[in-house]
Amino acid sequence: MLPITILAFLLPALSLAQDGSISGPATSPEAAGYSCDASKCKLPNCNCASTSPPNGLSPSEVPQFIVYTADDAIQSYTIDSVNQFLAHRRNPNGCQPKMTYYTSLNYTNYTLVTDWYVAGNEIADHTMTHVGSPPNGEIDGNLIALNALAGIPFSAIIGFRAPYLNYTADTLRHLAAARFTYDSSTSASIPVTDPNTDAYWPYTLDNGLANDCLNIPGICKGEPQLPGFWEVPMYAFFDNRGVAGPHLMDPWLDEANGASTVNDSATLEYMKNTFTAHYNGNRQPIGLYTHPIHTSTTYPGVTVSNSTINMINAFLDWAQLQQNVWIVSTEQMLAWVQNPVPISQLDSFSPLKCSTPQVNQAICDGIPANELGLLSHCAFPDFPFYTCYGCPEVAPTPGNPNPPQDTSNGQQERFRVPANCSTPFWDPIQGQCICTSSSCQFQDNSRPIGPNSVNLTGGGTGGEFSSGTASPTASFVPFNGNGALSSLPSGIWPAIILGSIGAMSGWLTAQL
Ligand SMILES: *[C@@H]1O[C@H](CO)[C@@H](O)[C@H](O)[C@H]1NC(C)=O
Ligand SMILES: *[C@@H]1O[C@H](CO)[C@@H](O)[C@H](O)[C@H]1NC(C)=O
Ligand SMILES: *[C@@H]1O[C@H](CO)[C@@H](O)[C@H](O)[C@H]1NC(C)=O
Ligand SMILES: *[C@@H]1O[C@H](CO)[C@@H](O)[C@H](O)[C@H]1NC(C)=O
Ligand SMILES: *[C@@H]1O[C@H](CO)[C@@H](O)[C@H](O)[C@H]1NC(C)=O
Ligand SMILES: *[C@@H]1O[C@H](CO)[C@@H](O)[C@H](O)[C@H]1NC(C)=O
Ligand SMILES: *[C@@H]1O[C@H](CO)[C@@H](O)[C@H](O)[C@H]1NC(C)=O
Repeated sequence: MLPITILAFLLPALSLAQDGSISGPATSPEAAGYSCDASKCKLPNCNCASTSPPNGLSPSEVPQFIVYTADDAIQSYTIDSVNQFLAHRRNPNGCQPKMTYYTSLNYTNYTLVTDWYVAGNEIADHTMTHVGSPPNGEIDGNLIALNALAGIPFSAIIGFRAPYLNYTADTLRHLAAARFTYDSSTSASIPVTDPNTDAYWPYTLDNGLANDCLNIPGICKGEPQLPGFWEVPMYAFFDNRGVAGPHLMDPWLDEANGASTVNDSATLEYMKNTFTAHYNGNRQPIGLYTHPIHTSTTYPGVTVSNSTINMINAFLDWAQLQQNVWIVSTEQMLAWVQNPVPISQLDSFSPLKCSTPQVNQAICDGIPANELGLLSHCAFPDFPFYTCYGCPEVAPTPGNPNPPQDTSNGQQERFRVPANCSTPFWDPIQGQCICTSSSCQFQDNSRPIGPNSVNLTGGGTGGEFSSGTASPTASFVPFNGNGALSSLPSGIWPAIILGSIGAMSGWLTAQL
């Protein structure tokens, strides 16, 4: 345990986390002035804003996605917080659910970003210092620093969410110009049961935006026109006031139904109702958009009630017992929208699969057991961090996101991940890629699903799975990066890693 004085430096300002709320409809058909010719706008590179599933699929052929996201700094505390909701679960194909971390860099512990990414999660951009209406340097600097100090390939950082959900038309223009694939900052603010709902499936901006039209100047009515660039709306939950009672991010922090105190039972009730409206309707995705700090039980000074934690798990338990429900990252969901195979073919759909990189050498590669003794500790006063890729001379800033490496004590410079080697196979000390053929790299850990499966529901809350290897709960060991510095007896870590390192999504294999 670190002394409390050091801990104090690691604490992000809690006020930062409570952002991204809406209080009523954010668009209307008049304000949107949206039109799109579906006979001209076709997948995979164009999709009209529509409440119906892509490619004309009927809802019964469509998986119900629960997109799980977290925002802000990545630290052991925030990883612990996410783990308490996801680590023990399994999707219908036996894979541990993956999520998206919209990462800002103040207080971020870079080595944990590497670990979280190598475990199969999506790392996305949330600016360097968490600012609204972000200047371009905040967006680009986040990419550059995450690539240099966390070893995340540029090609893997494809998404963005604006801090406070505060973006402008220019933010979107810059994202498209910088070759991001998608933004996920807009809100779907009207229930799916309302004829004017704005709960569109993800769509491209070939014909401008159709969400947030009442709130953001210079968008909608055809603007901004950014062909091939995707918007992934954030889908709100609604309490019993309907459109007047939206809950977008961290709904468990809100009072439900206009009450004056938080009531977890009431929150659970409306979350279930909104889920069911999606599930029984056009199956637009639903989202748990979280700031993990608010549900941390390990963060000094944060208090969260057990009832809230249990409520969130109860919601996911309940949802997972229904057929064809998948907990996914934004990137996985978007991959499906771009290539929407019916549920009968999901067993061969690679973005939902999981695999473990086969690396046992002691190299600093995002697999905690391998990193023992190899991390650099960068002792900056504002927020010290660890990295595999060498400490910079000064902390990264938007004006200088990739400072030269510090070699003042005679340390050897480390080699940063190149574009042609994937993170778990890159040895930053020797500067070599330890695997160059596609056959030796990953082990597929997913199970046959769909028509080949006994059961299309997920699991992990008990012994739901009737086939497969060890029961998910038994093999699960919480992962928060502490392993890399701890002194567990040798022999324990390899077993833990096999159990807890989850998936590499298919595109990672593809890019090798
Ligand atoms: C930072 O990462 C190191 C190495 O994984 C870990 O030991 C430490 O607990 C982490 N600290 C925080 C605050 O995340
Ligand atoms: C982020 O860190 C920078 C550099 O230390 C500092 O100037 C800025 O105030 C910090 N921002 C927040 C929101 O903590
Ligand atoms: C968005 O951010 C800018 C710059 O920080 C600020 O001036 C503006 O008030 C913010 N807008 C909203 C709606 O929060
Ligand atoms: C909390 O919500 C539940 C479900 O709506 C309700 O039955 C209960 O009375 C509420 N409790 C309080 C203290 O308001
Ligand atoms: C909350 O749950 C934890 C773990 O189950 C337990 O140790 C703790 O005592 C509980 N706290 C309260 C206030 O019930
Ligand atoms: C990656 O590119 C470098 C520089 O072009 C080259 O030397 C190296 O052999 C390549 N490595 C692989 C694994 O293709
Ligand atoms: C799938 O498994 C769950 C949990 O064991 C069970 O409740 C559900 O009825 C099963 N569904 C089918 C179609 O067998």
